[in-house]
Amino acid sequence: MRTFFTVVIASFVALAALAIAQPTVPPMPFHDSLRGATPLNEEPKPPLIAPTENKDVIRGLNYAQQPPTIPHKIDNYQLDKNANRCLACHARSRAEESGAVPVAVSHYIDRDGLVSGHLSPRRYFCTQCHVPQADTKLLIGNSFVAVEDIKPAPRNPQRK
Ligand code: HEC
Ligand code: HEC
Repeated sequence: MRTFFTVVIASFVALAALAIAQPTVPPMPFHDSLRGATPLNEEPKPPLIAPTENKDVIRGLNYAQQPPTIPHKIDNYQLDKNANRCLACHARSRAEESGAVPVAVSHYIDRDGLVSGHLSPRRYFCTQCHVPQADTKLLIGNSFVAVEDIKPAPRNPQRK
């Protein structure tokens, strides 16, 4: 009989410990740019995938040395260790035929600053730097200002 009680008490203690260990979701309002107001313990409805812009019009750059964005679709273009579909049009030797902008000369310079006759390995995976675009709502605010649009601070009148 005594062992029975010990087991009952022990299991109550164990259950109480489990109850304490349960994670609690804070009741305060939750907001995340990707999840919206969906609490962490609920699955949000995924937004529709925006169609990739495919206007074929080269976009301007927002800052010097910006990798230009891709103005066309890249769906199903193979880009892995076996093949690079981008180069089929963008390699300097293919540009005349394809009408694509040839890769910049910088893409032939390796990490030691040496210019070679072939694409530098560090420029092989184009989409590391170049990305297609979609016309979508911004997930988070952005106050980026291009350097030429920055207004100089008013001159300090104390300074001569
Ligand atoms: C079938 C040929 C073709 C393929 C394949 C292709 N492109 Fe293009 N790309 C073009 C053409 C043509 C342009 C010029 C603008 C236009 O017509 O869309 C262009 C424009 C671009 C530009 C804009 C260049 C600038 O100066 O603004 C980038 C960046 C680019 N492509 C990257 C890529 C990447 C990365 C891939 C592979 C994922 C790729 N392209 C695959 C034909 C191609
Ligand atoms: C490490 C980042 C990086 C990778 C990887 C890369 N690029 Fe670029 N690319 C740039 C930058 C930065 C520029 C603009 C500055 C310049 O000309 O170097 C550029 C410029 C270009 C341009 C415009 C050239 C011009 O004359 O206006 C094309 C086209 C291009 N890249 C295609 C590609 C393709 C295709 C690949 C893959 C084979 C690739 N890039 C890989 C960073 C990258």
